Amino acid sequence: MTPPETGPDPVVYESPCDPDVVYFVQDVLPLLVSSCAQTGCHNTASHEDGIILESYEVILAHQDLIVPGDPGESELIEVLYETGDDLMPPAPNAPLTTEQINTLSLWIEQGALNLSCSECDTTSVTFSGSILPLLNSTCAGCHSGSSPSGGVSLTNHAEVVAAIGSNNLMPSIRQEAGASVMPPAGNPLNECQVQLFEIWIAEGMPNN
Ligand code: HEC
Repeated sequence: MTPPETGPDPVVYESPCDPDVVYFVQDVLPLLVSSCAQTGCHNTASHEDGIILESYEVILAHQDLIVPGDPGESELIEVLYETGDDLMPPAPNAPLTTEQINTLSLWIEQGALNLSCSECDTTSVTFSGSILPLLNSTCAGCHSGSSPSGGVSLTNHAEVVAAIGSNNLMPSIRQEAGASVMPPAGNPLNECQVQLFEIWIAEGMPNN
């Protein structure tokens, strides 16, 4: 296996991000954390099969899990196409979507590098364009389906308004003392991403 050219700290690119590049920090890690690193699965506390999917360093440290440049040889991709008990994530979790699998495959094909590029446009904040995509990539793996984590589902406008109204969402993403820090592993939302929520709330949480 060819060692990746990047190290434990991501190489950060300024926006605009290249739409053809898969960025580990924004596109891959949140997906792995929310779909695979849930408690009881592949986080530091549980690590089924010895596999921990919470940071670049540990993910790349597993022989054969990721073969940079070769998604076909990477076990991470293989298990997404398995049947029965070997399929990941296991039932009752929803399987990854084709789009999500493509993102992971393309990231490996592009060398499985540790890249970061955060585009965060605060000039025109909308629910469908700013808030929902962020929730989908960062939170939905745990907060969707028939038994969402903490009983909090975050998949549409009404659910998000309710979670903000009950006064626990913003303290969680701001990582305030005493709040349940969200997301619980991986990268916290950055300042600009938290700001998107603040702007949208100040505008009255429109369903736009
Ligand atoms: C890896 C799984 C996971 C991810 C990813 C995740 N959460 Fe959670 N979330 C949980 C669990 C488990 C709980 C319930 C236990 C707790 O409160 O810590 C929870 C609870 C919550 C609560 C209720 C907190 C309270 O005090 O009642 C909110 C709000 C929340 N999450 C929002 C989010 C948001 C917003 C994101 C994305 C930025 C997110 N979560 C990402 C697992 C996750």
